Amino acid sequence: MKAVILAGGTGTRLRPLTKLLNKHLLPVGKLPMICYGLGSLQAAGISDILLVTDRKALGDFASFLGSGRDYGVSLTYRVQEEAGGIAQALELARPFVGEDGKFVVLLGDNLFEESLKPHLDAFRSQPAGAMVLLKQVPDPERYGVPVFDGEGRIVHIDEKPAAPLTDSCVTGIYMYDGTVFDIIAAQSPSQRGELEITDVNNAYAAKGKLEYRHLSGWWADAGTFRSLLEATRKLMGDLP
Ligand code: DAU
Repeated sequence: MKAVILAGGTGTRLRPLTKLLNKHLLPVGKLPMICYGLGSLQAAGISDILLVTDRKALGDFASFLGSGRDYGVSLTYRVQEEAGGIAQALELARPFVGEDGKFVVLLGDNLFEESLKPHLDAFRSQPAGAMVLLKQVPDPERYGVPVFDGEGRIVHIDEKPAAPLTDSCVTGIYMYDGTVFDIIAAQSPSQRGELEITDVNNAYAAKGKLEYRHLSGWWADAGTFRSLLEATRKLMGDLP
């Protein structure tokens, strides 16, 4: 299975640091943020990885990660010319994924403690559709929040709701079948002018094809100063 890491965007919540450096190259403990996602994928047995980033940061990523050889992976790069949303960045993966079918998408600011392998294996045995990984959090209003029916299926995801209906959130790892690109192609920008990943997931949910599993380990979206600090504290535990 191939993987796509999305590492573009504007990093607004981490300004002014991100005026200088792409968010995913900021340090978390000993390493730039991007290394954790790469490491999680590599440890789960995925080595063919597309990294999508913006024009300004591409050179920094290529200079730091190169071909991926030092990390045990093979990297391909694509440029997202404008930060038009997570789904717009994902659309750039179409030629890379090709006819290969199922693949996994990781948001580059998401850090996972546990192995992703059991989740990827579960998705491999799912006949079709998509899968998301959920985590209980104290601040679901920061994220996509799933709404369940009486049988425990996700019927809808609310993106950053003011009054979340549950304390679970959708983390930044998404597993899709090949139909995702047709779903994105049929999408329109949201009110904030972006192609939203939550709309993509809602299209799967509407067809009854969105499965989910729960993350049991520590997880962070390190996209704010507070979460970046928390992630650094957590990962500094490994420092001598
Ligand atoms: O972290 C999980 C959350 O990620 C989910 O719960 C939300 O449903 C999902 O919308 C997303 O929310 P964020 O507000 O955290 O998304 P953010 O704008 O920070 O972008 C997440 C990643 O996607 C980030 O690592 C950069 C990348 N990205 C983002 C945009 C808008 C791109 O590569 N290109 C883009 O245009």
